[in-house]
Amino acid sequence: MTTLSAALAMANDATPDVSDDHAQILEGLRSRQKWISPKYFYDERGSELFDEICRLPEYYPTRTELALMDRHLDEIARLVGPRASVIEFGAGSNVKVRKLLDSLDRPAAYVPVEISADYLVRQAEELARDYPDVHVQPVFADFTRPFELPDHPVTPERNLVFFPGSTIGNFTRPQAADLLEVMKLEAGAEGALLIGVDLRKDPAVLHAAYNDSQGVTAAFNLNVLERFNRELGANFDLDNFRHEAIYDRGEGRIEMRLVSKRPQLVAIAGTRIPFAANEHIITEYSHKYSVEEFVALAERAGFNAGRTWIDDVSLFSIHYMTVAD
Ligand code: AVJ
Repeated sequence: MTTLSAALAMANDATPDVSDDHAQILEGLRSRQKWISPKYFYDERGSELFDEICRLPEYYPTRTELALMDRHLDEIARLVGPRASVIEFGAGSNVKVRKLLDSLDRPAAYVPVEISADYLVRQAEELARDYPDVHVQPVFADFTRPFELPDHPVTPERNLVFFPGSTIGNFTRPQAADLLEVMKLEAGAEGALLIGVDLRKDPAVLHAAYNDSQGVTAAFNLNVLERFNRELGANFDLDNFRHEAIYDRGEGRIEMRLVSKRPQLVAIAGTRIPFAANEHIITEYSHKYSVEEFVALAERAGFNAGRTWIDDVSLFSIHYMTVAD
C-alpha cells in the first residue's frame, strides 16, 4: 500500500511543468482557429482569480451548487449509504468534498484524481489530518483516461464518483460522453455518480456571469498569457489582447476568447505566431445543459437516472445516478 507521504513525494516528481505541454500549446496557437486549453488557467494567480470569480455577485454557479448541497445532502447521504469511497475527478477547493464527507455515513476513503499536484498535495494533507477515519489516497492521473484505483485498508461498500462545479462544462458534448464512460468504469458495479451541471438559461444571466463588472473574469482569462510569458518565455503584450465571452445558444455554451486588438507577432518558445486584428484565441468552453439533455447523455454512457436537484430559479443542477448493470 502506498502511504500518503509516499504519494505526496511522488506528486512532487510528477508535477507537470508547463513546458511538458509545449507541443499542445504550440499546436493550439498554430491552428487556423487558435486555442489554448483551459487547464492552463490554474497557476497560483489563476487559482486565486478563480476563487475570486466564485465570490462575484454575477457568478451564480458556486453559491447555487453549495446551497443545493446544503439543502439535499441528507438525502444524498441516504442514497449513497455507508462506507463509500469518494473518487473526486479533479481537486480544487475542498469546501464541497468536506460538506460531502461530513454528511456521508462513515465514508471509507477519499481519492482525489488530478494531474496537477499543486492543489492536490495541500488538499490531501489537510483532509487526511481532519478526517482520520477516511483513507485519503490521491491519484496523479489524467482523469479523461481510465486510471487504476488504489486499495484501501477497509473495502468500501461502493464507489461514488464526485464531479462538482460543472467542470463537465469544459468538455464538448462528445468529450463529456467519453468522460462519463470513464466515470462509469471507475465507479464500477454498484457505483454511483454525484455531479454538478450548469443549466441553460437566459443568455443575459450567462453573459453577466462571464463578463463581470469588476473585470475579474477578464483578468483570469488574460492571466494565461502572463503565465506563458513567465513559464515559456513568450512575449505576449497583455495590453494588446482583450477578454471576450459570448453565449452560443445553438451550441448551448459560453465561449471565452482572447481577442487580438491589432495585427501583431508574438514569439513563444522560438516560434512566431502572427495575429490579425480582431483574431481570437478560444480559451474555454463552458457548456450548459437542460436537465433532460444531461440525463440522456449520462444514460447513454451507462448510468441509470436517479435524482436531480435544482434551485428555485433553475440556475444549476446536481445529479445522483447509479451505474447501470
Ligand atoms: C470551472 C469550468 C466550471 O465554466 O464556469 C468561470 C470556469 N471560467 N469563469 C465555468 C470559469 C470563467 C468554470 N468552470
